[in-house]
Amino acid sequence: MLVIIFQLACSAFFGSICHTDLGTEYGENAVTAYAESNHGPDGSLFLDPYFKPDLENLNNQKVLDAGCGAAPWSIYAAKQGGEVYAIDIQESMIETAKKAIQSANLINKIHIATGDVASLPYKHNFFDKAISICVACNLPPESFENHFVELQRTLKKDGVAVIGAPSSLDIIFSNGSTTDSEAFLHIQQVLDQLPDNPTAEIISEKLLQLEEVLSATFYLKNNRLAHVANESNLKEGEKIWRKLPTLIVPNCYYSKEHYINIFKKYNLSVEKVDFPHFKDEEERLAYNKTAATHSKLGQAYVLHAPFVIYHIKIQKEDLPKAKVPMTNTVKMG
Ligand SMILES: C[S@@+](CC[C@H](N)C(=O)[O-])C[C@H]1O[C@@H](n2cnc3c(N)ncnc32)[C@H](O)[C@@H]1O
Repeated sequence: MLVIIFQLACSAFFGSICHTDLGTEYGENAVTAYAESNHGPDGSLFLDPYFKPDLENLNNQKVLDAGCGAAPWSIYAAKQGGEVYAIDIQESMIETAKKAIQSANLINKIHIATGDVASLPYKHNFFDKAISICVACNLPPESFENHFVELQRTLKKDGVAVIGAPSSLDIIFSNGSTTDSEAFLHIQQVLDQLPDNPTAEIISEKLLQLEEVLSATFYLKNNRLAHVANESNLKEGEKIWRKLPTLIVPNCYYSKEHYINIFKKYNLSVEKVDFPHFKDEEERLAYNKTAATHSKLGQAYVLHAPFVIYHIKIQKEDLPKAKVPMTNTVKMG
């Protein structure tokens, strides 16, 4: 109930999208845009294939889809034989998810709930697997930490969690229709048009003009919206705005080191970290040759990973803390 009152107050105050004390409220337009575009062309290439294998051949395993959004992955997991528990804090997202689940004829396989990933309504040691894809970046600091406490609590020993998060936030990822420096200039032009202390609606309206930009991050600096040119200028938990292919989302910033520290703190053993990107220009050009116009990817995708995917195993006893190296794809022994 409190959650709903909070969301109503938030929508009334900020219009379409906003940061709340519980997580990101996307608003109606963004819910539709998100349900339609899902993770966008870069996500289809550099995010989805890195957690999809964990949702295959599930054979009645209990799977948590934390922050399920429009439930594309709950549906996928249910089709793969999982007993799925999907939860999201936004009523409008849950309504969209319910419709998708009904159309897929999977209402008996997916238990769907409105709720907070930082306070899960499930028993201890209940799940075999969990996915949390681009959800923790929506959470304010206290909820961020509690989300991982809750994954530790609700997953079985040796259970597996896959956590997806945005990466390389100081990089402008474009669709390649302009050069990186042209995209940068366009961003500066749009930022110059914004007033001091811009509202969520104005931020959303103006940043959506950056059609060629598939991913770029912004923050408030001295009351002005500024482009994040260097991640080290951001504080852990700081509010940020991300321009994605067809929507603008308010998020909170967490560095990779912060994720790793929280995993260590709660005995979430990191088995592997993926930072997928094109290995060279040749690979990018080959991909673009066959990709549809709206799915082409610019040069930044050669050197930089737009997402990071953490593969976690749940330990239930205290273990010596291991140092996690960060490379393109790391397997932990
Ligand atoms: C970027 S979307 C990702 C949706 C889905 N995981 C996917 O990959 O398609 C993030 C989702 O997290 C949800 N969310 C934000 N804060 C939350 C919270 N505290 N508890 C549950 N869900 C939350 C949002 O409503 C939104 O649906």
